Amino acid sequence: MQLKEKPVYKEIDAVIEKYNKPGGLIRILQKVQDMYGYLSEDVQIYIADRLKLPISEVNGVVTFYSLFSTKPKGKYTIGVCLGTACYVKGANDILKKIKDELKINEDETTEDGLFTLRATRCIGACGLAPVITVGDDVHGRINPGEVPKILSKYREKDVDTNIKNKDKVSCFRVAEYIKE
Ligand code: FES
Repeated sequence: MQLKEKPVYKEIDAVIEKYNKPGGLIRILQKVQDMYGYLSEDVQIYIADRLKLPISEVNGVVTFYSLFSTKPKGKYTIGVCLGTACYVKGANDILKKIKDELKINEDETTEDGLFTLRATRCIGACGLAPVITVGDDVHGRINPGEVPKILSKYREKDVDTNIKNKDKVSCFRVAEYIKE
């Protein structure tokens, strides 16, 4: 990768200054992603240059960890768990239904910038399988027929992100589930 015109990212410099210590690369990448929403190629090159690391090392970390994204993300990231418990309970059918509804594939974002779709590993809520997450919300024990209704709730402007068990759709905050 080549940096055509070296941008000056003052905010990135501030993050690097604060977290530039052994083992600090992941922390730096997390903080920078929090600021920009994703880690573009230019940003990765800039960080590698500043840390005097090979770009392959920075890019290797970015592509290894699923929490990092190299593309702009939508307002809501939908995670479809494809862990074993969810898989055997039909997670693939739910993933297909979401793809059909949003007309995107995995790791893509809808044209309106509202949703990004991801397939995930087990999120630790196997008792609710099959499970999807939308932003911070966890929707459990769902079937493909419920997908349009779930998505529509997030399309509404005044969406209430604390939707719970409406219309037989089980919806829990992760924290609430873990507390039980
Ligand atoms: S396998 Fe899906 S939450 Fe554990």
